Amino acid sequence: MFRFGAERVMDETDEFSYSLLSLAPINKKSGPGTPLEKEGLEYVADNPGENFHGEEDLGGGKYFTTAYPDFAVVEACVNCHNNHKDSPRQDLEVGEVVGGIVIRIPMD
Ligand code: HEC
Repeated sequence: MFRFGAERVMDETDEFSYSLLSLAPINKKSGPGTPLEKEGLEYVADNPGENFHGEEDLGGGKYFTTAYPDFAVVEACVNCHNNHKDSPRQDLEVGEVVGGIVIRIPMD
């Protein structure tokens, strides 16, 4: 649902975009797509509770990009992710950071 909503928003506007990503994604499309996304996902995973922001140049434009942690807040996250056939991780625990919500805003 999150991916569906994010893709619909991307079709509708260039003013911002958002996505739910992970360093070990179930959906291969949800891995980091830029060096800053990777840095942001690593940062929120290594510093639980902290957010990340930075600037990046993409396709001739400058963007302000943030990453917010997405925590495995309940057992359901862990059970589903650890048992999913496409999941690269089977050792996720409740309370851990599963991935991050990345928001990107053009600065021009
Ligand atoms: C019933 C199974 C299920 C549950 C419960 C679930 N997820 Fe997922 N999650 C998935 C699937 C399947 C995908 C890949 C969706 C797609 O095709 O884009 C996914 C995608 C994600 C992603 C994007 C990266 C990736 O792995 O593709 C994050 C981050 C994530 N889930 C976090 C969570 C968190 C946090 C919770 C609990 C609050 C949770 N999920 C609960 C099945 C689940």
